[in-house]
Amino acid sequence: MCGIVGYIGSKEAQGVLLGGLRRLEYRGYDSSGIVTLGDRSTLLRAKGKVAELEAKVTENKTIDGVGIGHTRWATHGVPSEENAHPHKSGDIYLVHNGIIENYKELKKELKDHEFVSQTDTEVLAALINSLYDNETSLESAVTQALQLVDGTYGIAVLSTREPEKIVVARSGSPLIIGVGKDETVIASDASALIGHTENAIYLNDGEIAVCRAGSVDLTDLSSQPLSAKVEKIEADMSAIQKQGYDHFLLKEIMEQPTTLQSTLNGRVDPKENRAMLGGLNMTQAELRQIEHVVIIGCGTAYYAGMLASYYLEQLVDGLTVDVEIASELRYRSFHLPKNSVALIVSQSGETADTLACLREIKRRGVKTLGVINAVGSTIAREVDGGVYVHAGPEISVASTKAFTSQVAAMTVFGVQLAQAKGAGVQELNQYINELADLPDEIEKVLAAHRDEIKEVAAKYTKYDHALFLGRDTLYPAALEGALKLKEISYIQAEGYAGGELKHGPLALIDDRFFEVMLLQDNWLFDKGVSNLAEVNARGGHVVVITNSTKQIDAETIVRVDTKLDALVPVVLNVIQQLFAYYVAVARGNDVDQPRNLAKSVTVE
Ligand code: AGP
Ligand code: GLU
Repeated sequence: MCGIVGYIGSKEAQGVLLGGLRRLEYRGYDSSGIVTLGDRSTLLRAKGKVAELEAKVTENKTIDGVGIGHTRWATHGVPSEENAHPHKSGDIYLVHNGIIENYKELKKELKDHEFVSQTDTEVLAALINSLYDNETSLESAVTQALQLVDGTYGIAVLSTREPEKIVVARSGSPLIIGVGKDETVIASDASALIGHTENAIYLNDGEIAVCRAGSVDLTDLSSQPLSAKVEKIEADMSAIQKQGYDHFLLKEIMEQPTTLQSTLNGRVDPKENRAMLGGLNMTQAELRQIEHVVIIGCGTAYYAGMLASYYLEQLVDGLTVDVEIASELRYRSFHLPKNSVALIVSQSGETADTLACLREIKRRGVKTLGVINAVGSTIAREVDGGVYVHAGPEISVASTKAFTSQVAAMTVFGVQLAQAKGAGVQELNQYINELADLPDEIEKVLAAHRDEIKEVAAKYTKYDHALFLGRDTLYPAALEGALKLKEISYIQAEGYAGGELKHGPLALIDDRFFEVMLLQDNWLFDKGVSNLAEVNARGGHVVVITNSTKQIDAETIVRVDTKLDALVPVVLNVIQQLFAYYVAVARGNDVDQPRNLAKSVTVE
């Protein structure tokens, strides 16, 4: 789930490992640890931030050139020093991302091991150790153990008996091996490799690698040798630094004009009146045949899909569009009609539930297209085609720029599909122009409203509950606004379709609540105003975010000036992002790493 780093080479491993763990901090975690091997082994672990671990390292410095490290996001057992990784059993140390599902059964068999933690990981450490006799190599013990394991893992294993190697393996949880000159760096996320090497081997599920300083041997689970594909890591240092902002979240909100431009570059051409995604791996004839699109994602990616579904319906005559939460769909006995295509939406490209849906849909022979941000991620590698949204590394746990880019990329897909199906130029004109204008419009709105939103946010930090309302395309935007606020401010926030207000949530309105109402100056404006009146009549504290200049009665009104129409929800959502950010900062929260959350959810 969280972070793995490993190092073997001539540098001092502790420094490299701590540097790597710092880079992985953004993923969210509750404890961390490292072990290095030299004349003796030095295992250091700490609950809380990497800074706590760093303090222990300062007191226990070694010059060892081999070690592994971990940031843990607890699944089995509370966050504590005992449960933090690496786990030890006999001569071996293990760090693990993921879940060993059959750990209870395995534990019953491992009577000789005295368990000191509540984790599933320690069971795997003990299992490997039980198979690691004097005749067996570390990789062979790991291979045998993994054949007995159900669940997901990315692991790195060290042995005091064979300190010249680190054995790593993956099934469902990413692992990347950076191979430098005379050194090898291992990480669960490419960001921890930047600055060490550009050459990386992305481990596939079912692969085991023996890493030595500057070399790697790859096999499958039956010990058959495999040839490793070395790829270039595409990331630059500046993308993973705050660049003067107080938080990654604010940086990522503010850089949306640029990141969105990267999404649209070469894909939207208003002069030619064209919008097109390369990489779909579909012919015009295949596109023409599509009658049904199912969009799948979790959290923000799901809401991006939901907003895009309105656009796809508007753009493509007769198209049926469904949007599904991946964790639900994967266990349903769902049916996909003939001529379906699935859009798999994920910032990280590693979300376990989304990946499971992708695999199930592929198994049924339905075409899958990725809408992915993280280059080289598992989902990006497994889809039949699709696009990278090119929003650059998103470090803050709360997703912002990825949402904007995902909506834009899926809207381009909608235009492309409509074009393939013979839609008239005039009908698509508006969307193409709005997409092309969107980066500048967002830039204008961010510049015009940043200070204002900071002041508005200060008025609403005291509340414990919030209701976000919107109709039509503003409904998915309201859901996303509520998600953003709840995850970083810890204010209980719910999103509702405006029309649902009288069907329940109206009962909630009281002085502990405030409401955010998204209002667009279009054919539904008056309906929204009626909702507003209903809330005002119950003493609501309403923040209206709108592109309208009309008379509106509300406690606070944020008026956004934009020439856009269809894409107004994307622009209003940027205001919601700033609002959530400033409320969370005012409440003193750790906005980049909100409690209990992780950046990429590679377990169910
Ligand atoms: C968004 O702010 C969340 N932290 C979360 O809902 C996220 O969008 C979700 O986990 C999906 O992640 P993915 O895009 O990497 O698949
Ligand atoms: N399941 C393991 C634990 O709870 C690993 C969690 C993680 O991925 O960080 O320790």
